[in-house]
Amino acid sequence: MSKESSQPRLELMVSEMLSCQACPLSSDRTNVVPGTGPVDAEIMFIGEAPGANEDIKGEPFVGQSGKLLDNLLSSIELDRDSVYITNTVKCRPPNNRDPLPSELDICQDHWLDAQIAIIEPKIIIPLGRHALNRILPGTTIGKSHGQTFSKLGFTIFPIYHPAAGLRQIRYKQLLVEDFKTLKTLLGNKREPTEEPKSHHITAKKNQQINLF
Ligand code: URA
Repeated sequence: MSKESSQPRLELMVSEMLSCQACPLSSDRTNVVPGTGPVDAEIMFIGEAPGANEDIKGEPFVGQSGKLLDNLLSSIELDRDSVYITNTVKCRPPNNRDPLPSELDICQDHWLDAQIAIIEPKIIIPLGRHALNRILPGTTIGKSHGQTFSKLGFTIFPIYHPAAGLRQIRYKQLLVEDFKTLKTLLGNKREPTEEPKSHHITAKKNQQINLF
């Protein structure tokens, strides 16, 4: 799919998302937080859910976790304008509670899978266990972070959520290490090395719904 045709598809999807009422999270939001970044981004970060700052601004990762993410990106000479950043759900759960399984399912079916199909990133980076569970169920962030997996033609590179790095220095160090691995991965453009049998799926990556 040419990126010329992807841009209007992404814009149309975002404009539809802004009036989404598919799940109860829509009733409490200030703003939908669709995601930011270029349609031809090679890397797509997927966080958990917008928090208070994101809900106000309508942009993902604009609080403290976002600052750490920016620093980690700049540590490998990237910035947020060159990557796509989104979340498993696009509206803030009340009081920052975890999104419910039904909310996650609905948002993924309506938006996340379609977003991935339009952007077709080379590398999908689930940030923390909630995003990991959507993209690569059956493993843990502790076991899988910093490793590459292959699914539906995408390379999946799970890492800890930046909020974990803010809470504990140990996780921040792991994030720093995993970003170094990411840099190598980008430099080498090498094929994924890990492929758990349960995730060896051969479907085409541009299928649009129920992608993950
Ligand atoms: N945490 C997330 O998972 N997403 C955001 O957008 C902000 C904080």
